[in-house]
Amino acid sequence: MAIIAPSLLAANFLKLQEAVEMVNSSEAEWLHLDVMDGQFVPNISFGPMVIEFVKKVTTKVCDVHLMIEEPSRYFEQFKKTGADHINIHIETCPRLHQDIQQIKAMGLKAGVAINPHSPAWLLSDIIRDVDIVLVMSVNPGFGGQRFIPHTIDKIKEIKQLIVEKDAHALINIDGGVTLENAAEIVAAGADALVAGSTVFGAKDPVAAIHKLKNA
Ligand code: DX5
Ligand code: ZN
Repeated sequence: MAIIAPSLLAANFLKLQEAVEMVNSSEAEWLHLDVMDGQFVPNISFGPMVIEFVKKVTTKVCDVHLMIEEPSRYFEQFKKTGADHINIHIETCPRLHQDIQQIKAMGLKAGVAINPHSPAWLLSDIIRDVDIVLVMSVNPGFGGQRFIPHTIDKIKEIKQLIVEKDAHALINIDGGVTLENAAEIVAAGADALVAGSTVFGAKDPVAAIHKLKNA
């Protein structure tokens, strides 16, 4: 059974408390929080100020996904406002190893996020250092996009890399996860699934989370 991480990006921002409470009442383990700066990705979402309020209500693990340039400038702030995991992009971190060590030294779990065009082998020398690999199955920036099919092969390659290197990282898939494709994604080796529109677009979001979990 996969770990489920509903993405708050797809929630009604005027009713964030209700959204967070819905997730509290569900079988989801993590709450995925998408931070976008309008530079690394074309969209702007929310930052530490919003997360600080979410943290007061959530009972789940806060899985923060930083889609921002120079993310290390904000590690302290995200820790202070409630991040449990910080995921940073391989594409925006020239000192990735150092940044990952810094996140772990703060007592948080460290994730490396990888865009659809970046090959799995790029992870080869960082895989043993990270707690999570966040595999982007859409181009980051927006919710509600279609799952890019070649991600399935990439999940298998990353899984193999983890076994070869005797690493312990969890594989989390982000973008376009639906009730239809979740089983195939889990079968390929995913340990966790982020889901925005599939959860918040559902008539019964708690039931959607249950279905994803049992996919
Ligand atoms: C995309 C974000 C995702 C997004 C997923 O840039 O990183 O976390 O919220 O949304 P869905 O599940 O709708 O594709
Ligand atoms: Zn995300």
